[in-house]
Amino acid sequence: MEVFETIAGMRNARKRLSEPVGFVPTMGYLHEGHLALVRKARSDNNAVVVSIFVNPTQFDPSEDFQTYPRDIQRDLSLLEREGVDIAFTPSVEEMYPERFDTYIHVGGVTRRLEGASRPGHFTGVATVVAKLFGIVKPNRAYFGRKDAQQLVVIGKMVADLNMDVEIVSVPTVREPDGLAMSSRNVYLNSREREAARVLWKALQGAKRLWAQGERRTARLREEMIQCIEEEPLATIDYVSVADPITLDELHQCRGPALASLAVRIGKTRLIDNLLLE
Ligand code: PAJ
Repeated sequence: MEVFETIAGMRNARKRLSEPVGFVPTMGYLHEGHLALVRKARSDNNAVVVSIFVNPTQFDPSEDFQTYPRDIQRDLSLLEREGVDIAFTPSVEEMYPERFDTYIHVGGVTRRLEGASRPGHFTGVATVVAKLFGIVKPNRAYFGRKDAQQLVVIGKMVADLNMDVEIVSVPTVREPDGLAMSSRNVYLNSREREAARVLWKALQGAKRLWAQGERRTARLREEMIQCIEEEPLATIDYVSVADPITLDELHQCRGPALASLAVRIGKTRLIDNLLLE
């Protein structure tokens, strides 16, 4: 595996790769969720590029950019073992030199859910992903359904800006008790880790009602809220049942619906979602 910290090095190496090239953008501190994307990219393509870059523009000043977990050596050995061709690990200065001043703002779908709670977050995500696409020039790019809204935002950007890359989505990888894998799970102490099960439990509650034929979203939301409120360490940021494409909040479901939630367990903010269909 080759490792490049500069855009020039990455660009040069890209010329030698045999197509199709699959690309997995990450912020590192890799876990089985990330590796599922890497394995899918490996099986679909002739070459695989993975980026590791903790992107400052998608963090609000009050958020955890400085303390976001990092372990680049461990990440690189995991990627090596997965047969990745290139790891791209730029510095902040390489990606955002002085006087950098162009941002990609995706409209409506960024105003809801995560976008409402974290203003500017998706502008940071769209901007860095567009830059990475411009540098890596992948034929396909892989994103996890764990971040369902991110997938919608990237899909919209690629369609609206006619980017020549196929977006592939990969199912959420979970711990045995259902907790979605996340780099931020390391913030949880053992009491909090126990409490974090409530996210998946709440989504399962909604799924159970849905399977019984419940289509009134107020009832589905209420079920999830009640479940979370029973956990003393949990505070709700949002609980949503939305149209999976527009992310508009639904009143009555006619087709599939995206149940999603953001919950604080102590100081750690966790998200999860489940497609009801
Ligand atoms: P990061 O949180 O590191 O996630 C990188 C990719 O892994 C994303 O596509 C995310 O959805 C996926 N992923 C994370 N946990 C997962 C899980 N449990 N199962 C399946 N996939 C999972 O998302 C980002 O980084 C950044 O916003 C990025 C796209 C890299 C732009 O900075």
